[in-house]
Amino acid sequence: MEGAINNDIEGIVAECGGACACATCHSYVDDAWLDKIPPMDDMEDSMLDAAFERKHNSRLTCQIEMNDDLDGLIIHVADNEY
Ligand code: FES
Repeated sequence: MEGAINNDIEGIVAECGGACACATCHSYVDDAWLDKIPPMDDMEDSMLDAAFERKHNSRLTCQIEMNDDLDGLIIHVADNEY
Protein backbone atom coordinates (compact mmCIF):
# COMPACT_ATOMS: atom_id res chain seq x y z
CA MET A 1 0.00 0.00 0.00
CA GLU A 2 2.76 2.46 0.88
CA GLY A 3 4.57 1.65 -2.35
CA ALA A 4 1.40 2.33 -4.32
CA ILE A 5 0.69 5.61 -2.53
CA ASN A 6 4.29 6.80 -2.91
CA ASN A 7 4.20 6.03 -6.64
CA ASP A 8 0.75 7.49 -7.42
CA ILE A 9 -0.81 4.15 -8.36
CA GLU A 10 -4.47 4.79 -9.12
CA GLY A 11 -7.08 2.90 -7.14
CA ILE A 12 -5.26 2.49 -3.84
CA VAL A 13 -7.14 4.98 -1.68
CA ALA A 14 -5.95 3.82 1.77
CA GLU A 15 -8.35 5.99 3.73
CA CYS A 16 -7.27 4.58 7.10
CA GLY A 17 -3.58 4.97 6.39
CA GLY A 18 -2.82 1.29 6.80
CA ALA A 19 -4.68 0.52 10.02
CA CYS A 20 -6.65 -2.37 8.45
CA ALA A 21 -9.85 -0.42 8.99
CA CYS A 22 -11.16 0.66 5.58
CA ALA A 23 -10.50 -1.93 2.82
CA THR A 24 -9.76 0.84 0.31
CA CYS A 25 -6.37 -0.74 -0.38
CA HIS A 26 -8.05 -3.93 -1.58
CA SER A 27 -6.22 -5.66 -4.40
CA TYR A 28 -5.89 -9.05 -6.05
CA VAL A 29 -2.62 -10.89 -5.71
CA ASP A 30 -1.51 -12.69 -8.86
CA ASP A 31 -2.05 -16.43 -8.39
CA ALA A 32 1.66 -17.16 -8.93
CA TRP A 33 2.43 -15.14 -5.79
CA LEU A 34 -0.29 -16.35 -3.44
CA ASP A 35 1.88 -18.90 -1.65
CA LYS A 36 4.76 -16.46 -1.28
CA ILE A 37 3.02 -13.72 0.67
CA PRO A 38 2.35 -14.02 4.41
CA PRO A 39 -1.09 -15.40 5.31
CA MET A 40 -3.81 -12.97 6.34
CA ASP A 41 -4.86 -12.67 9.95
CA ASP A 42 -8.44 -12.65 11.27
CA MET A 43 -8.66 -8.87 11.28
CA GLU A 44 -7.76 -8.59 7.58
CA ASP A 45 -10.10 -11.46 6.74
CA SER A 46 -12.95 -9.70 8.53
CA MET A 47 -12.25 -6.38 6.85
CA LEU A 48 -12.12 -8.02 3.43
CA ASP A 49 -15.69 -9.21 3.98
CA ALA A 50 -16.66 -5.54 3.64
CA ALA A 51 -14.66 -5.08 0.43
CA PHE A 52 -16.33 -4.86 -2.97
CA GLU A 53 -15.97 -8.02 -5.07
CA ARG A 54 -13.85 -10.12 -2.75
CA LYS A 55 -12.14 -12.98 -4.58
CA HIS A 56 -9.96 -15.97 -3.61
CA ASN A 57 -6.85 -13.83 -4.09
CA SER A 58 -8.09 -10.67 -2.36
CA ARG A 59 -5.75 -8.99 0.09
CA LEU A 60 -5.48 -5.67 1.82
CA THR A 61 -2.21 -4.32 0.53
CA CYS A 62 -1.51 -2.46 3.75
CA GLN A 63 -1.17 -5.84 5.44
CA ILE A 64 1.46 -7.21 3.07
CA GLU A 65 4.87 -6.38 4.49
CA MET A 66 7.34 -6.19 1.63
CA ASN A 67 10.73 -7.90 1.68
CA ASP A 68 13.31 -8.99 -0.88
CA ASP A 69 11.50 -12.27 -1.50
CA LEU A 70 8.52 -10.30 -2.81
CA ASP A 71 10.54 -8.39 -5.41
CA GLY A 72 8.40 -8.51 -8.57
CA LEU A 73 5.12 -9.13 -6.74
CA ILE A 74 2.19 -8.72 -9.11
CA ILE A 75 -0.92 -7.03 -7.68
CA HIS A 76 -4.08 -6.10 -9.55
CA VAL A 77 -5.86 -3.15 -7.97
CA ALA A 78 -9.51 -3.71 -7.11
CA ASP A 79 -12.22 -1.11 -7.65
CA ASN A 80 -11.75 0.83 -4.41
CA GLU A 81 -13.40 4.07 -5.48
CA TYR A 82 -17.06 3.26 -5.05
S1 FES B 1 -5.36 1.19 4.07
FE1 FES B 1 -7.19 0.88 5.15
S2 FES B 1 -7.38 -1.25 5.22
FE2 FES B 1 -5.55 -0.94 4.12
